[in-house]
Amino acid sequence: MPDPRQARVSDHPALVECVQTWWGDSRTPQQARELSLLLPKLFLQFFSGTSLVREDEAGAVEAFLVGFYSGDNGHEAYIHFVGVDPRLRGQGVARGLYEAFFRRAAEAGRTEVRAITSPGNTGSIAFHRAMGFECEAGDREVDGVPVHSDYDGRGQARVCFRKRLDGAAVRAFTTR
Ligand SMILES: CC(C)(COP(=O)(O)OP(=O)(O)OC[C@H]1O[C@@H](n2cnc3c(N)ncnc32)[C@H](O)[C@@H]1OP(=O)(O)O)[C@@H](O)C(=O)NCCC(=O)NCCS
Repeated sequence: MPDPRQARVSDHPALVECVQTWWGDSRTPQQARELSLLLPKLFLQFFSGTSLVREDEAGAVEAFLVGFYSGDNGHEAYIHFVGVDPRLRGQGVARGLYEAFFRRAAEAGRTEVRAITSPGNTGSIAFHRAMGFECEAGDREVDGVPVHSDYDGRGQARVCFRKRLDGAAVRAFTTR
């Protein structure tokens, strides 16, 4: 599997396009367009060094991860977006991006990775659980999953994930 490369500011238009077309399994086209507003250029201007892109031989984006290291909490890293071309799902592509992010975060001294998703995005919930994330206790459950009501504003519930990069995990990621 090809290694992902570091993201660049010039990737921004392509990544917005990916969000608008790849999120169709959990959202309507209108909702997917609205979702892409959560990926403004600033993420590439200020966090391309911790974000990853996988592209094909022609340079088309096949998958991406937008993440960063917390400026406030020195032990934390955060994954804001991950997306894989629907034609390439189920082959370990997102796992490869996450493991590359974990390895880099561990090398940078980060010991915990956090992420959130919407309660309706069952694919994302299953993926994060498969990647070893734990769900933080919420104020209610939806289909057995802890949910934080109004997390991102009224009516904007989220599932909150947390994964420790403990000593064993850090060694595993740094020896590859
Ligand atoms: C979620 C997403 C990134 C997963 O990408 P992927 O490349 O298909 O995932 P992988 O093949 O690397 O799967 C890694 C693990 O997660 C599990 N997994 C991934 N998607 C899953 C799904 N929809 N249902 C159940 N399990 C899933 C796999 O079984 C695998 O487990 P294993 O390694 O223990 O066998 C992809 O479906 C996607 O781009 N979805 C739309 C965008 C999105 O919702 N992003 C997340 C929120 S920002």
